[in-house]
Amino acid sequence: ATADPVVTDHTNCGDPNLPAGAKPTKCCPPNSNTVTDFVLPSNQPLRIRQPAHALSDDNINKYKEAIKLMKALPDDDPRSFLQQGKIHCAYCHDSYYEEGCPDKKIQVHFSCIFAPFHRWYLYFYERILGSLIGDPTFALPFWNWDHPDGMEIPAIFADRRSPLYNPLRNANHQPPTLLDLDWNKNDVDTSGDVEKNLKKVHKFIYQVKRPTCFFGRSFVTAGSLESLHNTLHSWSGDRTQPNGEDMGSFYSSGRDPLFYGHHSNVDRLWTVWKSFGREDLNNRDYLESSFLFYNENKNLVRVKTKDCLDTLKLGYEYQPVEVPWKDAKS
Ligand code: C2O
Repeated sequence: ATADPVVTDHTNCGDPNLPAGAKPTKCCPPNSNTVTDFVLPSNQPLRIRQPAHALSDDNINKYKEAIKLMKALPDDDPRSFLQQGKIHCAYCHDSYYEEGCPDKKIQVHFSCIFAPFHRWYLYFYERILGSLIGDPTFALPFWNWDHPDGMEIPAIFADRRSPLYNPLRNANHQPPTLLDLDWNKNDVDTSGDVEKNLKKVHKFIYQVKRPTCFFGRSFVTAGSLESLHNTLHSWSGDRTQPNGEDMGSFYSSGRDPLFYGHHSNVDRLWTVWKSFGREDLNNRDYLESSFLFYNENKNLVRVKTKDCLDTLKLGYEYQPVEVPWKDAKS
């Protein structure tokens, strides 16, 4: 394949191509006449992302308050819960076009831009939440589903009275039902198995050595990180809905707070994988691919993959936790 980065055209966003049975919805963000290029944050405290199952009460309350404020923003505010959820739809269901390609729409899955796109998505989402509660140290928790203590939907997302709750999830997979990383949609709902889950993560993360296999190839194949992550989507979504909404479908998954906890862990696994001495992709079409996000000041910003490879430069890191799957060879 020739090197040709995906560049999002901010002037060209149309109606999404939704799966059958989905309620009609538009996914493009509010318009903006100006787009600025991303600049790395400076002089800011580091945000430490922690496991969702082990958050302090203080941090749980901050997270709930921030989501509550996000949900209270007017629907046309690009920082609102509604608009943030639509970002996933805009980039996955044929809404945005590629710059210079009026016939080609963007889909950020099934290829190596999966990891950087979602890293950027969470970066802005986290900063918007932090700014709503006036806390520059606010960090998104991660759903630590690769650790035995995290192999169920974290309690903070399952409390019905919480703004982090979403009713459209699989009723048979509520805590304490154990995650099953081998689950596929046709399975009967049996509980997962810790050892099997660890072996699966070992195989999809630890045993994968080559960047093209981990991240996927340029616009050709999904990597093991993305493949492993898919199971959590289909496992969490509500199977009584036409497309496994919310978590089970691209256009709707961004509506569930659980999505951001899940992706925080996917993003973390990228950093864990690199800690084994493995390398990022370094081809130009990867590094120069670019996306658009509204920041916490409601300005539209253009970001490039090459600027997100180091989380410390982006101002956050993951609290180190055990990786029991590292030695769980089958
Ligand atoms: Cu854009 Cu978890 O998918």
